[in-house]
Amino acid sequence: MIPLDGVTIQEVGPRDGLQIEQRWVPTGEKIALVNAIADSGIKRIEVSSFVSPKAIPSLKDASEVFAGIKRRPNTIYSALVPNTKGAERAIDAKADELNFVMSASETHNFANMGMTREQSFLELGSVVAIANGASINVNATIATAFGCPFEGPQLTSKITDTIKRYFDLGATSITLADTTGMANPVQVTTLVELSLALVSPNDLTLHFHNTRGLGLINVDAAFRSGARRFDSSLGGLGGCPFAPGASGNVCTEDLVNFFHEIDVPTGINLRELLRLSAELPKLVGHETPGQLAKAGLASDLHPQPNIKRSA
Ligand code: COA
Ligand code: ZN
Repeated sequence: MIPLDGVTIQEVGPRDGLQIEQRWVPTGEKIALVNAIADSGIKRIEVSSFVSPKAIPSLKDASEVFAGIKRRPNTIYSALVPNTKGAERAIDAKADELNFVMSASETHNFANMGMTREQSFLELGSVVAIANGASINVNATIATAFGCPFEGPQLTSKITDTIKRYFDLGATSITLADTTGMANPVQVTTLVELSLALVSPNDLTLHFHNTRGLGLINVDAAFRSGARRFDSSLGGLGGCPFAPGASGNVCTEDLVNFFHEIDVPTGINLRELLRLSAELPKLVGHETPGQLAKAGLASDLHPQPNIKRSA
């Protein structure tokens, strides 16, 4: 039986959100953001990525960010890594978990990571060995799992085979990522059901982007199919700089609101998220796509208009 008592939301804004931003966000501001996100009750945060600073200059201070954050108990501070060097740097920085990323699609993997899929699988093997030495877990992500902006749809069997291979190589949990928002709810239902035959709901994360406005409807489809872990980004920031047309993740405060509206607990203080989200435009220098921050909670009613009717 799948537990119906709540969902786990992992905040990826400090990583997926900031990786595509043009404006440099100072290290101290990144640290303050991560600390405030943890204070809102979010128990999993992807803090940064240990990738080439030439590929992602906006996250070149990953080590300093990890060194500066306050660690709340029972909160997992994870780091994205693409290779052995990234794993070594992340472990030196005391990341609690590594998130290894490669793509379903050969073309996007090469554009993003400069490697063939086979080279990435080899890297995963050595990332796991390094992580095991430090007694930390490796989550492995399948980017472009719901479609690639260069190749189009990916075979379902390729996704399930990749999950099996990830486990064989020692990953302990899996993320299916819709890198450029190509997923639809029917496809999500199929892929989540097939994945949950291989992965427990506690070890499967769905990572949707709202590129085509289907983000929350895909979350809903995944949730109804038994998924219980979701990635999202405060304000709906995010996107892969090596995928044409990429745009923001599902927005964290919109996602938390969705679950609260259907009586699914998240353990997250939504008003605190809204306060944080309101500060994002100052940080990144532009408006953010999230909707709840603009509209407010449905339960926050407005004063009734004072209408005078003539007799
Ligand atoms: N962290 C920091 N530097 C790294 C690194 C890492 N994890 N991996 C490699 N490098 C450095 C190398 O030391 C080398 O440095 P040098 O030029 O000073 O000698 C340089 O990067 C090139 O190394 P190479 O192994 O030839 O890698 P590459 O140039 O083919 O790049 C990746 C491969 C994986 C490092 C790069 O494509 C990358 O960082 N991709 C991540 C993209 C990303 O984050 N996308 C969004 C998230 S999905
Ligand atoms: Zn993403």
